[in-house]
Amino acid sequence: MSFRDYLKKIEGGNKLQKVSKTVSKRLEASGVLKALEPKPVLFEKIEGSAFKVAGNVFPTKDSVAEYLECTAGELIPRISSAIKNMKPPEEASKGACQEVVEETVDSDKLPILFHCEHDGGNYVSSGVMIARDADYGQNMDFHRLMQIGKNKFSVRVVKERHFDKFLKKNGQMDVAVCVGNGANVLVAAATSIELGQDELGLANALKQMSVVKAKSVDVNVPAECEFVLEGTVALEEKHAEGPFVDLTETLDVVRQEPVFTVKKITHRKDAVWQALLPGALEHKVLMGMPREPTIFKKVNEAGVKCLDVNVNPGGCSWLHAIVKIKKQKEDDGKKAIYAAFEGHKSCKHIFIVDEDIGIYNPLDVEWAMATRFQADEKLVVKPREKGSSLDPSAEPETHATTKCGFDCTKPLVAKGKNFEKEQFPKIDVKKYL
Ligand SMILES: Cc1cc2nc3c(=O)[nH]c(=O)nc-3n(C[C@H](O)[C@H](O)[C@H](O)COP(=O)(O)O)c2cc1C
Repeated sequence: MSFRDYLKKIEGGNKLQKVSKTVSKRLEASGVLKALEPKPVLFEKIEGSAFKVAGNVFPTKDSVAEYLECTAGELIPRISSAIKNMKPPEEASKGACQEVVEETVDSDKLPILFHCEHDGGNYVSSGVMIARDADYGQNMDFHRLMQIGKNKFSVRVVKERHFDKFLKKNGQMDVAVCVGNGANVLVAAATSIELGQDELGLANALKQMSVVKAKSVDVNVPAECEFVLEGTVALEEKHAEGPFVDLTETLDVVRQEPVFTVKKITHRKDAVWQALLPGALEHKVLMGMPREPTIFKKVNEAGVKCLDVNVNPGGCSWLHAIVKIKKQKEDDGKKAIYAAFEGHKSCKHIFIVDEDIGIYNPLDVEWAMATRFQADEKLVVKPREKGSSLDPSAEPETHATTKCGFDCTKPLVAKGKNFEKEQFPKIDVKKYL
């Protein structure tokens, strides 16, 4: 199912809000998307562009699950199994993403949004970048692009990303940036797998798809995506990138970053641009969700029965993880804390809870902390470790941060008061109203 097939599907289910009024790409479309979040929105007319724009398309785990035809609760096993069973997508001779090959490169014709007042420019925020290295093969990940000219963008490349390694090894890389993808491609691009494994194999294992050769660079791109921007990223050509709102909804700093020069643009005939609001729910879901299977795996490998993980939006879908376990030994909570940090190295606070706690309900998690946690016995503190570059409270240069874990599980044997929530009688309230 392509991005547009999914839009059609939700349109049929009355879940898509259409906006027929002409909307500006500068500070207007993003405001509407935020006001309507988490409702998916299709802008039919964007000022100065011939293309439609869709945003808030996958803002919840339920929407990703709907695309993958499973339930939200099945996502962790589904992604874990796809990582184990990756399969390269079939190469097609023709792809819808190449129905139109633009004669000239003019990114001003694209509806690239300016999201927030203090941003450094218009940003491509939903693009997945595909690059091929002679030794490692293809890699696909997200890199936001700030528009700095008709054919130029500065690219945010976080250190140690696989693309950063490719760039440092080769000095410059031919790339294709693909916009307008289904949740299988988006989730795969956001997942860190081993260097040398092509994330498109993961996307294909999540939901079958095909690829097509890009027109001017040696990479394969999702055949059904909406737009492809082909060109070269050069390490030596640098330009300011930022400010831009990051996952924490705070402004990221301005950095000198490599420049992407676009040489060719291809797209579908009536292509729909994919907007992705920075720091909003869709960004959060795509960042946090791929860390849940890795935490789940590490906790189970540590010999603790892990039942579910939520890298929750309240924790920016990056800095917090709530881990549900079936406690069998008194030290299971602490063991799970150490293992969960192994499963997500950028995480700052981990909360371990019992199986009766709803990990998607912040009140329930806080209740577990209030009633089952004792700081002198059940707190794990890991002072000044390397944390996330996204955390505004981390040391700016080294990203050193103090991590801690809260074992909010009840003791196996209660000594004083009971730890269970009492249940009220279940009645049919309609009879009384
Ligand atoms: C919506 C979204 C935007 C992202 N933007 C960037 C970015 O601008 N730069 C970056 O280096 N990583 C960004 N990331 C994170 C990487 O794409 C992600 O961590 C990926 O797994 C790294 O892939 P790798 O393991 O192949 O290096 C973003 C992720 C998401 C979901």
